[in-house]
Amino acid sequence: MNGTKINVGFIGAGSIAGTHAAAIAEVEGARLVAITDALPERAAALAQEYGAAAVRDVEALVRFPGLDVVYILTPPAVHGEQIAAAAAAGLPIVCEKPLTVTLAEADEAIAAARAAGVPLMTALSHRYHPLAAIVRAMVQSGELGDFVAAWSHRLVNLPVEPDSWMNDLRAGGGLALQYAMHDLDWALTLGGAVAGVSAVQSQTNPELAIADNLWALLRFAGGGSASIGTSWSAAQPHVERGVVGSRGNVRIVEQKRLVGALHNGRTIEQDLGDDYDWFDVFVRESRDVVDRVRRAEPFAVTGEDGRRALEISLAVLQAAQTERPVALPLAPEREMEERT
Ligand SMILES: NC(=O)c1ccc[n+]([C@@H]2O[C@H](COP(=O)([O-])OP(=O)(O)OC[C@H]3O[C@@H](n4cnc5c(N)ncnc54)[C@H](O)[C@@H]3O)[C@@H](O)[C@H]2O)c1
Repeated sequence: MNGTKINVGFIGAGSIAGTHAAAIAEVEGARLVAITDALPERAAALAQEYGAAAVRDVEALVRFPGLDVVYILTPPAVHGEQIAAAAAAGLPIVCEKPLTVTLAEADEAIAAARAAGVPLMTALSHRYHPLAAIVRAMVQSGELGDFVAAWSHRLVNLPVEPDSWMNDLRAGGGLALQYAMHDLDWALTLGGAVAGVSAVQSQTNPELAIADNLWALLRFAGGGSASIGTSWSAAQPHVERGVVGSRGNVRIVEQKRLVGALHNGRTIEQDLGDDYDWFDVFVRESRDVVDRVRRAEPFAVTGEDGRRALEISLAVLQAAQTERPVALPLAPEREMEERT
C-alpha cells in the first residue's frame, strides 16, 4: 500500500459518517471507496457524494477488494458484531465510541481483534483536540505539579428524537455513553484509574426515556478527583475543561482558548481563534488513522482505551440510576439495566 492511497470503507452512512467522509476527503493519501448501511439509500447518497461504491451489506463491505481499513459508524448495540466481521476479514478497525454498550461485548470485541491480529481503535475524537493535548502534556511532564483535580462541563441543546436509537438505553447507552463518555475520558487521561464515582441525573424532557442531564464526581485511585457535568437541554451552549495541579491550574474555554497560571509566575495562554472549527479534530483523527494504517502501527486510541471509557461511563450511569456511589472495577455484565 506504500505510495498508493489508503482505501477506507464505512459501515454506517448516518450523521457521523458524513463528518468522517468530509474529514477523510481532507487527508492526502486516503479515499473513501465503499459504504454500506442498513438503509441502502443512505449508503447510495453518501457514496455518490464521495465517488465511492455503495455495497449490499457488512459482509460485502469487509470483502470489498483492496480495502485497507473499516470505519464502524453505526449505533453502539451493533458495534460488537461488526467488529467481529471486520476482524474476521483481517482489516484494521476504527469503531466510533462507545466501543460497545456492555463490558462483556467490549471484551469479546477486543479478543476478536487480538485473535485476528488486527488493530482496533475507539474513535474518541476529543483526544485529538490540540489544546487538550497541551494540557495532557503539562500534567504528564509534571509542569502542573501533583494532580489535584480535573473538570469538564459541556452543555448543549441537543434535542433527541423520541423514536431514535439515542432514546433507547440498550441501543445507545443514553447521555452517559453517548456524550459524557468524552468528558469522562478526558478525566481518565489526566487522573488515571478511577476508584469510585457518584452521580446524579435528571430528565427535563418528559418525552424521553433517558436522562438529558448528568453530573458526576470521580475519585481517582492515585489521589485527586474530577467533576463532570453534561447537559443536552441547555439554552446556551457552554464548554469548559480544566485541571488543578499543586503548581498551577489551566482551563480550556469553549474549546478555543487555553488560559492558566503557575505559582512561579508563568502565565499560560494559547488561542485557536474564534473561527476554530471542531471539525479540525476529525481531520486530525483521520490523518492519524491513515498514517498508522500505512505504517501498519497500532492505533493511538485502542480498544482497551474504549473499554476503560465504557467502564467509567457505565459506572456513572449505574451511580445515577441507583443514587448510590459505585466502586470500580465493574464486573462485566451481559445486559444493560433498563432503569433511567
Ligand atoms: N465522536 C463523536 O464526536 C461522535 C459524534 C456523533 C456520533 N458518534 C457515534 O457514531 C455512531 C453513529 O452515530 P450517528 O449519530 O452517526 O447515528 P445515525 O443514526 O445518524 O447513523 C447511524 C447509521 O447506521 C445505520 N445502521 C444502523 N444499524 C445498522 C446495521 N446493523 N448495519 C448497517 N448500518 C446500520 C443507520 O441506518 C444509520 O444510517 C454512534 O456510536 C455515536 O455514538 C460519535
